[in-house]
Amino acid sequence: MTRKKEHESTAAKSPGLSDKTINQRFEFREILPEEADQAASIEQVCFPPNEACSEKMMKERVAMAPELFLVAVDRETGKIAGFLNGLATGEASFRDAFFTDAKLHDPAGRNIMLLGLDVLPEYRGQGLAKEIVCQYADRERERGRRLLILTCLESRVGMYEKMGFHNRGIAASSWGGEQWYEMSCALDA
Ligand SMILES: CC(C)(COP(=O)(O)OP(=O)(O)OC[C@H]1O[C@@H](n2cnc3c(N)ncnc32)[C@H](O)[C@@H]1OP(=O)(O)O)[C@@H](O)C(=O)NCCC(=O)NCCS
Repeated sequence: MTRKKEHESTAAKSPGLSDKTINQRFEFREILPEEADQAASIEQVCFPPNEACSEKMMKERVAMAPELFLVAVDRETGKIAGFLNGLATGEASFRDAFFTDAKLHDPAGRNIMLLGLDVLPEYRGQGLAKEIVCQYADRERERGRRLLILTCLESRVGMYEKMGFHNRGIAASSWGGEQWYEMSCALDA
């Protein structure tokens, strides 16, 4: 993995299962149209109602930008264990409209606004989220993207720093009535 921060390089690796084991256990790929329901259900499990993406919005995202999803599918069950999704844009700062309007997706955009990282409870603590973010960054770098940008609660800042993100400070977001931090990860530094 060769991901770099905006201001310094990093070398985050999966903390639990080895890359080989995690790839044996999970298939990493874009989402299929028929998996939109699953993604919407997982979102309801992972986030409280004021933060979760609605079923309607998730279906719009899957319809508009399936290539900006990365799902980890448990090879034993054929079901999604976790996923990350986003939209491409030329913009360089996060705004809440990306959460609600998938039509803002510009396939040629060089930056990605990340909208949700979800891992089902039974799959947590094994490095799956880190592997999803790592593979997502590698894929989008290969597609010529410049930046991954996200907002998160203060309690998640440390987690994203471990994954190679740089903390830009308090975000211009009031999503769900919470205070958010904006973080970014440079892919072309
Ligand atoms: C947060 C979440 C995605 C983590 O998934 P996971 O597969 O358990 O994470 P990983 O095992 O890959 O952990 C990666 C690193 O982040 C740390 N981490 C994991 N969950 C964390 C949390 N909730 N808060 C702070 N750090 C966390 C881990 O300790 C690990 O650090 P390490 O490399 O030093 O061991 C998962 O708990 C989840 O879906 N939560 C609900 C939705 C959510 O909060 N998503 C992120 C919103 S911005």
